[in-house]
Amino acid sequence: MMKLSVNGQTHTLDVDPETPLLWVIRENVGLTGTKFGCGIAQCGACTVHIDGKPVRSCVTPISAVGNSEVTTIEGLADESGLHPVQQAWIAEQVPQCGYCQSGQIMSAVALLRDSPDPTDAEIDAAMQGNVCRCGMYQRIKRGIKRVASGEVQFFDPKSDIEVQHG
Ligand code: FES
Ligand code: FES
Repeated sequence: MMKLSVNGQTHTLDVDPETPLLWVIRENVGLTGTKFGCGIAQCGACTVHIDGKPVRSCVTPISAVGNSEVTTIEGLADESGLHPVQQAWIAEQVPQCGYCQSGQIMSAVALLRDSPDPTDAEIDAAMQGNVCRCGMYQRIKRGIKRVASGEVQFFDPKSDIEVQHG
């Protein structure tokens, strides 16, 4: 049996330790917001956080997670409402088909946590592994800048500490 903490809840799971985290999240935990795209770490659709860092869950065996905390798209919103990045995505009408957007948002949240006011180059570097077949790259960038500008308040859902904007 394996223990896995996802979005603050601990699950005890009867799974092979080499099972990709993506499948455990979707099939065993039952959270289907995280998507399968390529399965080989090339598209970013499966991005989740492990202890706040973005990882490709399609190539991460559950044995590699250990006691770390996994956060999925379902874990971003809290009782106060949607995460600011989600709010900015709505304001900029980023999602089209939507398939890539869980991964895009998880990468953007991690970027803004580490770099509250990222440069264009920093945005490009952080987001380059997240492919959008609908080509919404400019809207994604505008969404990130909207959060960075303070138009929506950015809270780290893990610490409730507001990130200061410069
Ligand atoms: S499904 Fe994981 S990177 Fe494409
Ligand atoms: S919104 Fe369709 S793939 Fe990104």
